[in-house]
Order: sequence, then C-alpha cells, then structure tokens
Amino acid sequence: MKHLVILTGAGISAESGLSTFRDNNGLWQNYDAMELASLQGYRNNREKVLEFYNARRKNLLTVEPNHAHHVIAELEKDFKVSIITQNVDDLHERAGSNNVLHLHGELRKVTGSMNPNNPKCIKEKPLDEPIVIGEKAADGSQLRPFIVLFGESVPNIPAAKKIVAQADIFVVIGTSLNVYPAAGLLQYVPASAPGFLIDPGEIDSYEALNYHHIKTKAVEGIDILKDFLADKL
Ligand code: APR
Repeated sequence: MKHLVILTGAGISAESGLSTFRDNNGLWQNYDAMELASLQGYRNNREKVLEFYNARRKNLLTVEPNHAHHVIAELEKDFKVSIITQNVDDLHERAGSNNVLHLHGELRKVTGSMNPNNPKCIKEKPLDEPIVIGEKAADGSQLRPFIVLFGESVPNIPAAKKIVAQADIFVVIGTSLNVYPAAGLLQYVPASAPGFLIDPGEIDSYEALNYHHIKTKAVEGIDILKDFLADKL
C-alpha cells in the first residue's frame, strides 16, 4: 500500500464549527494569542489561560467530525495513512483515523506545569471537567492543558519529519503554513512524492508552490482529492 501523509490545520475542522486562527473572525482576531496561548501568558495569568482552554475543551463536546475527516478515515482502506495535525481537537480520531500525530497537543489531555512532556503527568481528563487552580498533576505541579504553548518546543517534530520523509503522496489540508516548525515539514517531503493542497485561500508557501492546489473547502476538496488518488493506488 502506498503511504499517504496528510498535514492538517484548523481549516479541516472549520466545517465542524471550530474557529480557525487567522481567517477573518479567527480565534486570534478575537483573542490575544500571546496572552492566552503562550508560556509567558500562562506564567503571567494562569487563571485566564485555564479559563480559555476550559472553554475550548467544553466546546469540543458540541462538535462532530465533518465529511473531510470521515473520507480521510476511509482512505485507510486503500492507503497506509499517516495524519500529522496541528489541531488540538480529536475529530480525526472520532472519525475513525488510526494514525494521528498531534504536533500542538490535545484538548482532551492535561499535564503538569513543571515538565509538560513528562509521560507520568500526561492523562485524559473529561472535557466537561474544568482544570482549576490547585489541581495537581502526578509530579505535584499545577495541572494544565496538554497543549504546546507559543514559546514551548514541539516534541513531536522529529517523529513528524520521519513520517513525512516516507511519504509516497503528501497532502496539506486547511493550514496557512504560518507556524513553524510545523510548516517546515514540507522541506522533508521526498521530491518523488506528488503534493496536493486543499484550501479555499491563497497559500504563499514557497515549498507548496508546485503542489496541486484544490481551491475549495475541505469538505468539497476531499472528494476531488479522492478522485485524483484513485489512479495512484
Ligand atoms: N476548508 C479548508 N481550509 C480552510 C477552510 C475550510 N473550510 N476555512 C479556512 N481554511 C484555511 C484558511 O484559508 C487557512 O489557510 O485554513 C487555514 C487556517 O489557517 P490558520 O487559521 O492559520 O490555522 P493553522 O494553519 O492550523 O494554524 C497553525 O497556529 O495558533 C497556532 O497552534 C495554533 O495549530 C495552530 C497553528
């Protein structure tokens, strides 16, 4: 089976009702990312950051995977599919995808503030249970969302580079490719792998210049992609 590697961003979850970040009315148009999603912001005001992520966690209970998530899950019948997502929602998993690598963390999980990547501290916490000040992780530090905050390293990047380097076909769906190191993964795609981009907007990423751009929303573009892939089985 050919290895289909798919890099996804907020755009793929837009049709499920989750905001993107940099579109008009995106999350960072209405909230200050440095205040609510950065390590410094968390240090300055833990309550405010916890409140922001508790709201996003609770909101995740109200949304469902969309057609794009489901078609990607079905592609596992014909391809070895590896998803590398910048998204912190669990919609790929809920649609039935089995190989999902999260670069920026997961809303479903929590960890400790002392060393957020300590495996002993990372655990699931029900989405309707808020994370509160005074709640401790296994290492005794304040419990926090298992989210990579701006200013923190992205521990899954080495694993992601290895996956991308093994792609027979590479697909980018719903990301502005504004945020590194995630956007830098395109440099590791083998020259032999055809590239596809599904996004209704313009993408000014140099690396994606020769990708076949399916200029639609993910829920429509995924069916066009499926037709392209039919003769690449
Ligand atoms: N279908 C497909 N793509 C869409 C749709 C849609 N319905 N709606 C918007 N898009 C595209 C936009 O054109 C844009 O290119 O999705 C992209 C969203 O870009 P961003 O809002 O920048 O989201 P993303 O690239 O995922 O952000 C990366 O930034 O703040 C951090 O950690 C956060 O993971 C996030 C990272």
